[in-house]
Amino acid sequence: MNKRNNISGAMDFHVLPPKGLLNDPNGLVHYKGTTHIFFQWNPHETDHSYKCWGHATTEDLIRYTYHEAALLPEEWYEKNGCYSGSGLVHEDRLYLFYTGNVKNEKDERESYQCVAVSEDGFHFEKLGPVIRDIEGYTAHVRDPKVFQHEDGLFYMVLGAQREDLTGDTIIFRSEDLLKWDFLGSLLEEKEDLGYMWECPDLINLKNKSVFIFSPQGLEPEGEKYRNIFQTGYYTGTFQNGVFRKDDHDFTEMDRGFEYYAPQSFDYPDGRILSMGWMGTMEKEKEEALPTVKGGWVHHLSILRELSLSSDGRLLQKPVRELESARERVLEEKRDSIRVEIETPFEVNLKASDKMKRLELRYGGDLKLNLDGSSFRVERRDWLTGEREYRSVELTEGLTALQMLVDHTSAEIFINGGEEVFSLRFFKEEENHELLITGDEDMEIGLYRLVF
Ligand code: FRU
Repeated sequence: MNKRNNISGAMDFHVLPPKGLLNDPNGLVHYKGTTHIFFQWNPHETDHSYKCWGHATTEDLIRYTYHEAALLPEEWYEKNGCYSGSGLVHEDRLYLFYTGNVKNEKDERESYQCVAVSEDGFHFEKLGPVIRDIEGYTAHVRDPKVFQHEDGLFYMVLGAQREDLTGDTIIFRSEDLLKWDFLGSLLEEKEDLGYMWECPDLINLKNKSVFIFSPQGLEPEGEKYRNIFQTGYYTGTFQNGVFRKDDHDFTEMDRGFEYYAPQSFDYPDGRILSMGWMGTMEKEKEEALPTVKGGWVHHLSILRELSLSSDGRLLQKPVRELESARERVLEEKRDSIRVEIETPFEVNLKASDKMKRLELRYGGDLKLNLDGSSFRVERRDWLTGEREYRSVELTEGLTALQMLVDHTSAEIFINGGEEVFSLRFFKEEENHELLITGDEDMEIGLYRLVF
């Protein structure tokens, strides 16, 4: 278990930096019976001035053990950071693909897509760059996600910026993971969505492909795109290195304040699991995070099971293993409760779709509110002290709500994972009051989480 100096001095059930700053999840992979979770890590400061790959493992998908950093920026081709990437098992060896970030003597960026390989999952031999400059694109090319397609070949997708300074994802193909052929843009048709796309991921669910990526530079549109950067997806088909998207808009994967750069991996029992970074790149907000005083900043989300709904929407559910951490506080049918409960805990509500009003408050800070079809999550902005919110329209009503609350964060899953809100929040220290009120009776489950 992960005992450490978070601001409440207690234990968190999320992957967080032993000290310093954590950002993207990297190299998620199940290898030789263990699940490995690497992450972007600055062990020295709570800022982005240094990046290596931190390393945690899990046997049960909910409890983590921390290890020595796996990749340190020691070579010329990565001297300003071992940036994000992915993992793949091939012929019993674990391959890591990552971006070597370099600022040259003119302070210009250079990006190298690199490979490291291991026989045990803990010690890596660096094989160096396998991809360098790419024609038609700036040096903003990074975050290799490698997968093997049903045609037996390996593909690598990369976040990129075109020379006209618009965002894109590009794709390479390989037979041996070392020699890569450039195929061009992943998308059949050019999309105009921001100035840079980071951390692309392409996964197969049912007969569909889901292309998940994190574009930068979208302007807010009503309730959409209100964070500094977004993460979302398109569904479509992937064939011969080309993704043909279905006719739908870019859909945000998470409606909360802090969710970015998720990555998925195949679990041996057939599930596709994913986790994201619950952080913000808004500099002032990052620097003001209360955990900075405790010497650490940001954490990852819990692992989530991905699937597609019958109408083609991406569903995210907390890994089912979390149920084994439950200690029941109450399971009752009521229209309201008021209890004292300390973090971490889980709330599980089941309502009829007739429910039109629901309010949930916790710790004098977090507030969830359903008003007709409008659902919103509110917290105090720790930088300005003001209330701020994110919201979504639930056109088919609210029938289920599952909320996992850690000491400094909450993850809220609506209607079996159709909508998700992930956020950090900082409750009043001695306030453990949880209040739930609805306009209908609902099944209320409340559980302490024990790790
Ligand atoms: C996304 C990102 C990646 C990059 C990494 C550097 O949060 O900017 O594109 O590889 O972080 O830490």
